[in-house]
Amino acid sequence: MEQRSKWGTNWGFLLAAIGSAVGLGNIWRFPYVAYENGGGAFLIPYFVALLTAGIPILMLEFALGHHKEASAPKAFHYIDPKWEWVGWWAVLFVMFGIELYYIVIIGWCANYMRFSLTLAWGDDPNAFFSQFLGKTDPGNIWGITHLQWHIVTAVAVVWFINWAITYGGVQKGIERAVKIMMPILMVITCTIVVWALFLPGARMGIQHYVTPDFSKITDLRVWVAAYGQIFFSLSLGFGIMIAYSSYLARDTNIFKNSLIVGFANSFYEVFAGFGVFSILGYMATRQGKEISDVVAESLGLAFVVYPEAISLLPYGRIFGVLFFFLLAIAGISSSISIIEAFTAAIHDKFAFPRKKVVTTICVIGFFGSLAFTTNVGLFWLDIVDHFLNQYGLIVVGILEALIVGWLYRTSLLKAHIVANLGLSGTHHKFFKYVVLQLWMYCIRFVTPVALGIAIVNSLMQEFVEPYAGYPISGVLILGVGWVLVTHVVAFGVSGLPWKGKTT
Ligand code: TRP
Repeated sequence: MEQRSKWGTNWGFLLAAIGSAVGLGNIWRFPYVAYENGGGAFLIPYFVALLTAGIPILMLEFALGHHKEASAPKAFHYIDPKWEWVGWWAVLFVMFGIELYYIVIIGWCANYMRFSLTLAWGDDPNAFFSQFLGKTDPGNIWGITHLQWHIVTAVAVVWFINWAITYGGVQKGIERAVKIMMPILMVITCTIVVWALFLPGARMGIQHYVTPDFSKITDLRVWVAAYGQIFFSLSLGFGIMIAYSSYLARDTNIFKNSLIVGFANSFYEVFAGFGVFSILGYMATRQGKEISDVVAESLGLAFVVYPEAISLLPYGRIFGVLFFFLLAIAGISSSISIIEAFTAAIHDKFAFPRKKVVTTICVIGFFGSLAFTTNVGLFWLDIVDHFLNQYGLIVVGILEALIVGWLYRTSLLKAHIVANLGLSGTHHKFFKYVVLQLWMYCIRFVTPVALGIAIVNSLMQEFVEPYAGYPISGVLILGVGWVLVTHVVAFGVSGLPWKGKTT
């Protein structure tokens, strides 16, 4: 049996965990979600969600992985073999769902870096994007005619980079890579934000981003959006944070680490929002439009609105290259984390050598990603993304909170966290009887209830009309199917015997 890997330093771990958390979701999703849900006022539900679910679940995942020195399936197996499948399900649907298309999007970013140099989208970025994807009629989502080869090539390169990083292992691969990538990420982010802040119209854009609309706070959907954003953004329910913390030195302060990662991720997204809205303000001013006419989220923001802005900006080409490079780095520091989480799970259970596991996963992953590089790739991506995020992640979050909160001897986890705090006397008592009690309260009640409401809310929508008006067959097979198949496989795998040691 190989020695279990270890991080070289706690710093290395923090960078990797923040790298996993900070991803596409922070840059293109948060600013829009905040704008849509009350601007500055959104920060209230958002921070409540961070404090009552984000940081508590993060601390739970860190404590569990660290205490048990185990990947997600193994950690759940320890709690009760009956629940091992939850760990498998998390790593399976993220690895063979979210990861597959996430890497395709990073591949698009790579292509767009190149397009930025020539402003290849001309004066119609929207039409250009459709052409780039080879997009056909959304009503015919089974009509696959071809692969888009320039996307396939980029996807191969991105998978190769992911393989090269994770192949080196935790310390020589991931830790070394994030020590290079995260500083670059920070420098580029600051450059872009400062650049954007000085553009004409920036102030107007920011006003739209931060002006509070308190009337929204009473809207349940705003709260649902806040919990959803926190969950995806912090990579919770992915099984990632459990695996990452299992490689930490024994005397690590879990509480402090959770606070650092939780706040760093939120700080990053709020900060990035200033850049995003400055650019939108600039664009609206230049084109004499309203912010509401130029604003967009996720794919539309990155691949349609930003190209338009890049064409207008002085030195726009440099800006474009930087922006798409930033997305690519933020994406890769996240995508490597699930490869690691999945590798850890397979290695723990079957005791296969790490390197072989990494290579096999990356090859299978590449072929899996091809499903999203055809002319209907965008629609598939959209449907799979919606279902895995709304149901997969949230269900895992609820189960995690319930299983650990109610079925596990939580005194063990608490004792584990307290042991490495370095506190004594009254501080120690305060922490143990107040902070950790509150933590358990959040895990037992607040998180399951909040996520439960979120899921019922999305389910009700589902019955109103098929998601985003796609053909029902697509929604059922790709969306519901993906959720169910990974679920069944998780059950199957958890029934297999353990080769790795489990005591
Ligand atoms: N938290 C990331 C974000 O905000 C998403 C993410 C983290 C992710 N790890 C991942 C996506 C692994 C796919 C695979 O964007």
